[in-house]
Amino acid sequence: MPLRSALRESKILLNYESPERPVVHVFFIASGTCYVGYSLPENSSSFYYMGIPRLKFPSDAPSRSTLKLEEAFHVFIPADEWDERLASGMYAVDLGACPGGWTYQLVQRSMMVYAVDNGPMAPSLMETGQVMHERADGFKFCPPRTNISWLVCDMVEKPLRVANLMTDWLVNGWCREAIFNLKLPMKKRYEEVTQNLAMIEERLHENGINAQIRARQLYHDREEVTVHIRRIWAAVGGRRDER
Ligand SMILES: C[S@@+](CC[C@H](N)C(=O)[O-])C[C@H]1O[C@@H](n2cnc3c(N)ncnc32)[C@H](O)[C@@H]1O
Repeated sequence: MPLRSALRESKILLNYESPERPVVHVFFIASGTCYVGYSLPENSSSFYYMGIPRLKFPSDAPSRSTLKLEEAFHVFIPADEWDERLASGMYAVDLGACPGGWTYQLVQRSMMVYAVDNGPMAPSLMETGQVMHERADGFKFCPPRTNISWLVCDMVEKPLRVANLMTDWLVNGWCREAIFNLKLPMKKRYEEVTQNLAMIEERLHENGINAQIRARQLYHDREEVTVHIRRIWAAVGGRRDER
């Protein structure tokens, strides 16, 4: 690490890592050319060293996507709340579930999962007895029960369509928390995300729903961001949005 040593000699870097000090970011675009930036600890977007969570890919998981949902749980749900918010016996819906990487994470938490997708689910997941495979369109699927805790969604679709669908579920009180991806193949990704988040916030507000909304590009994300929304409470008499 010649750069690290040189920065230490110049007294720019401490001799030890400190989570309380600003972090310098150096991005090389050629051997002698780089962008330099810094982040302040209170505004740091990642609590993992170098932003890389060391998650082990479970050999029995049906797809590598499983790591995206696992990382999202680590990033969005404090460890001491897992037993309450990712609890055994909860019901979850996974829209665009196949082959089952995300469903696998929910099953690992001993949840019962409605896996919605026309594709094939991994037989190993079906054998757990915790998964109900619904061959249906995720945009038309209605939850068959009223006690769904989690909605997760990894459908490859236009961000605005997914954002509206997730908002419908929250407005209708069909789930308590949602984690979903907004796929961003377009050029103006930041603008796209900002507009979608503003739309979600506005619709929830209009319907008297107080929710916590957070979005991150996770280490395991590609051209996408992961959004977490937690419904905190709904105003009495808040308008229900019918689809
Ligand atoms: C990226 S894959 C999901 C991978 C999955 N999260 C995993 O970890 O294995 C996207 C899935 O969404 C499904 N999908 C796309 N549009 C859908 C729709 N309208 N309704 C249901 N599923 C849909 C596709 O069939 C595909 O299996």
